[in-house]
Amino acid sequence: MTTDTDKRAAAAAAVEMVRDGMLVGLGTGSTAAHLIALLVDRRPAIEVVATSEASARAAREGGLVVRDFAGISRVDLTIDGADEIDSMLVAVKGAGGAMLREKVVAAASDRMVVIADGSKRVDRVGAAKLPVEVLPFAERFVARALAGLFERVEKREGVETDNGNVILDGHGWRDADPQRMAAAVASIPGVVGHGLFLSEVDAAIIAEDGVVTRLER
Ligand code: 5RP
Repeated sequence: MTTDTDKRAAAAAAVEMVRDGMLVGLGTGSTAAHLIALLVDRRPAIEVVATSEASARAAREGGLVVRDFAGISRVDLTIDGADEIDSMLVAVKGAGGAMLREKVVAAASDRMVVIADGSKRVDRVGAAKLPVEVLPFAERFVARALAGLFERVEKREGVETDNGNVILDGHGWRDADPQRMAAAVASIPGVVGHGLFLSEVDAAIIAEDGVVTRLER
């Protein structure tokens, strides 16, 4: 089984949770792309909101009804990928740079389900880089502050988020506690968002070598 086959298997299992009439949040990334493709194939009677311009475009091109999230306060079900997820359903997201909109849509959702291949499942999050979305005005100041929290901080060169911001990736967390890290990063003025999802994820569907496992909060 390839990783990509597992991503598709996780997405296919999640599609079974989609019911006609739902407003569904679409994640971002290669696993979410499988989800969008499967929804385009099956055409359930749903409307969707997207966590990135890329996912909105793919959904719209496939003929799904994409609503503008700015006019939405509640979503029935959001399905999204992750870079790391642990058994407590704490997740790191944002390798694709969409973590801010992903977190807003997740928070608005009655249910948020992560879909992933087995490589994303970890005992405890913290090995992956932590993406931090930063107001361009504050880039240098935030980079200096983040240097106290990570062994290395790297700017994603040439990347501008859908919100017009820059991304600084924190590698090598100096504190292994996700709650403390999330609080410390969020407290820096100029940080607009980050990829640590402490409580937003309700369930995960992980596919590894074709075997699908479900985790529930
Ligand atoms: C994008 C994300 C993605 O969901 C995450 O990076 C996983 O991506 P992929 O499914 O391509 O492995 O958080 O901001």
